Amino acid sequence: MNPNQTIVHPANTVELLREGIPTYLPKPLIFEADINRAPVRKDILSAEEKRLAVRNALRYFPEELHEILAPEFADELKTYGRIYMYRYRPQRRFEAMPIENYPARCLQAAAIMLMIDNNLDPRVAQHPYELITYGGNGAVFQNWAQYRLVMKYLSEMEEDQTLVMYSGHPLGLFPSHKDAPRVVVTNGMMIPNYSKPDDWEKFNALGVTQYGQMTAGSYMYIGPQGIVHGTTITVLNAGRKLAGSSNDLGGKLFVTAGLGGMSGAQPKAANIAGVVSVTAEVNPKAAYKRHEQGWVDKVTDNLDSLVEQVKKAVKEKSIVSFAYVGNVVDLWEKFDEENVMIDLGSDQTSLHNPWAGGYYPAGLSFEESNVMMVQDPELFKLKVRESLVRHADAVNRHTQKGTYFFDYGNAFLLEASRAGADVMADDGIHFRYPSYVQDILGPMCFDYGFGPFRWVCCSGSPNDLVSTDKIAHDILHELSLNAPEEIKQQLKDNIKWIKEAGKNKMVVGSQARILYADAEGRTKIAAAFNRAIAEGKIGPVVLGRDHHDVSGTDSPYRETSNIYDGSAFTADMAVQNFVGDSFRGATWVSLHNGGGVGWGEVINGGFGMLLDGSADADRRLRSMLHWDVNNGIARRSWARNKEAMFAAKRAMESEPKLKVTLPNIVDDRLLDNLF
Ligand SMILES: NC(=O)c1ccc[n+]([C@@H]2O[C@H](COP(=O)([O-])OP(=O)(O)OC[C@H]3O[C@@H](n4cnc5c(N)ncnc54)[C@H](O)[C@@H]3O)[C@@H](O)[C@H]2O)c1
Repeated sequence: MNPNQTIVHPANTVELLREGIPTYLPKPLIFEADINRAPVRKDILSAEEKRLAVRNALRYFPEELHEILAPEFADELKTYGRIYMYRYRPQRRFEAMPIENYPARCLQAAAIMLMIDNNLDPRVAQHPYELITYGGNGAVFQNWAQYRLVMKYLSEMEEDQTLVMYSGHPLGLFPSHKDAPRVVVTNGMMIPNYSKPDDWEKFNALGVTQYGQMTAGSYMYIGPQGIVHGTTITVLNAGRKLAGSSNDLGGKLFVTAGLGGMSGAQPKAANIAGVVSVTAEVNPKAAYKRHEQGWVDKVTDNLDSLVEQVKKAVKEKSIVSFAYVGNVVDLWEKFDEENVMIDLGSDQTSLHNPWAGGYYPAGLSFEESNVMMVQDPELFKLKVRESLVRHADAVNRHTQKGTYFFDYGNAFLLEASRAGADVMADDGIHFRYPSYVQDILGPMCFDYGFGPFRWVCCSGSPNDLVSTDKIAHDILHELSLNAPEEIKQQLKDNIKWIKEAGKNKMVVGSQARILYADAEGRTKIAAAFNRAIAEGKIGPVVLGRDHHDVSGTDSPYRETSNIYDGSAFTADMAVQNFVGDSFRGATWVSLHNGGGVGWGEVINGGFGMLLDGSADADRRLRSMLHWDVNNGIARRSWARNKEAMFAAKRAMESEPKLKVTLPNIVDDRLLDNLF
């Protein structure tokens, strides 16, 4: 395909994508009943600030429509706490279309349009009407005017322009050059003192910032598959800690919560890891959606019957996943009363967002909570705190009986500690339970450079996905033949994963795949894809990764929780990564405040890169992927993580132009009597 050629499309969608903000008034949106809606947001603005929010919203529209739109937007603000501009949601089916169906003047822009559409596909997105992809508040855009303008800009963009995105708002197309990113995204960048949860509520309601989560605001979400893999690796390795060298996870029980956007992957991952699992989910819609999709085997809201079924499954070592429709606190307490032995425990409620629908307190129904969080937010906060104390108490009773509990990056321990729950270690400084990164993902994966590399086949063809799976498998297999002992297990797990990936039917939305690989693996796989594209064997491919990776995220209670030199509270690595990716050839880059653990608690970034079979793409992928992983390895190595020091030395041996500053290790006895 000639990237400069304007592509021809089915008339309606093409017109809608090019249309931008129409001069006429579109028909009001018809809300379909079965679409999961975002919770009503906190009413936080003063009357004067509400006027400002409406004034801000109206600047997207021609003046002659203001008389109609002003009261309509005011009404949205009153009813939902935000102005989504529902009427402007294009009346089309949202899904990742084959790349040639997008009206674009350059293929890179078409690829970004495809990825944006995928993030808003109702099969993929958690609250598609509110432009929320996952995590309750992970937004692609703040409102539908922004979506429309962005698609219009992308349809017009040429290879020497860059679209600048300020938290969902397209500032405009700016002249740049062919090797520059086509889009630069920042989400939620705040003056540090204005980065408290209520600051998000206020400035998001004003329409000037948004919570981009990780892959929502960077157009890189690929549905729950993305997290299935990370969760599988985590559960598998957590299980190995218990099973020891036997590696037999049969009959082990894993208990957790959340069947939402990302958390919905847990039962599937547990099945792949070969354990029995129970996942509590308070929202019946979310639980049944996962059941219908085949991500969880059985659903029940009856705790007595659940206890019987679980005991039987454990005894028979069946591989089965249960969804419990109810509150996770009740589940932990019931299993304690009934002496059900839990081997592995965790939690994936959205505690990065505890006061606005991320965590439903025990003792209140789902509906009661939804009303209380809006009508009496202070009482709701109290209920959440009480529930977290009960929650932690129940977990503690189980861990005393031998459960291995880990924080799964949802800020459970952080929020529980803030609520006064008994989750601190004896030193009063650290938590009594490890984060999964401290114990598992950090030392076993990130420090060696293994992280959630992913790709999307832009043709939309399942055959392309099969071909790319095969290419990736063959590369990993080849690498495993001469790999050092330290990374053999990782390669082995990922070879198994990619071999079975097709069979596990994890595609929801775009034809996408995730695979943990290190810098060498990612580069070799990407180069092989690019060759296959050049040879006409497959269509164009978008590469990317979760921000939750080796170098992409600074987050002291999650991705960088295994950094112990004090720098876990700095964000230089993520910012450097974003900047470094942008001048090494990324097609788009993004930098976010607020990922999985909450606004103000994390800075994370990512990239997207289009492979089109060209020599340019080959040059870019080699330069960018090398940096994208080795930045984090160098930082982790400087923090004295021994696995990363090993990886940094290895990387320098294979690339003479890489010179990493290595730490000298001090004999601790020299420090003992100094202070
Ligand atoms: N460790 C990781 O790699 C990782 C990856 C992705 C997400 N996360 C974090 O996990 C959390 C969940 O992400 P998500 O995308 O699934 O969010 P989500 O909001 O889509 O899902 C959370 C689910 O938890 C349910 N829930 C809330 N309180 C509950 C309770 N008391 N009992 C039972 N169910 C309850 C909600 O109804 C919701 O469906 C987030 O904080 C996210 O940042 C961690």
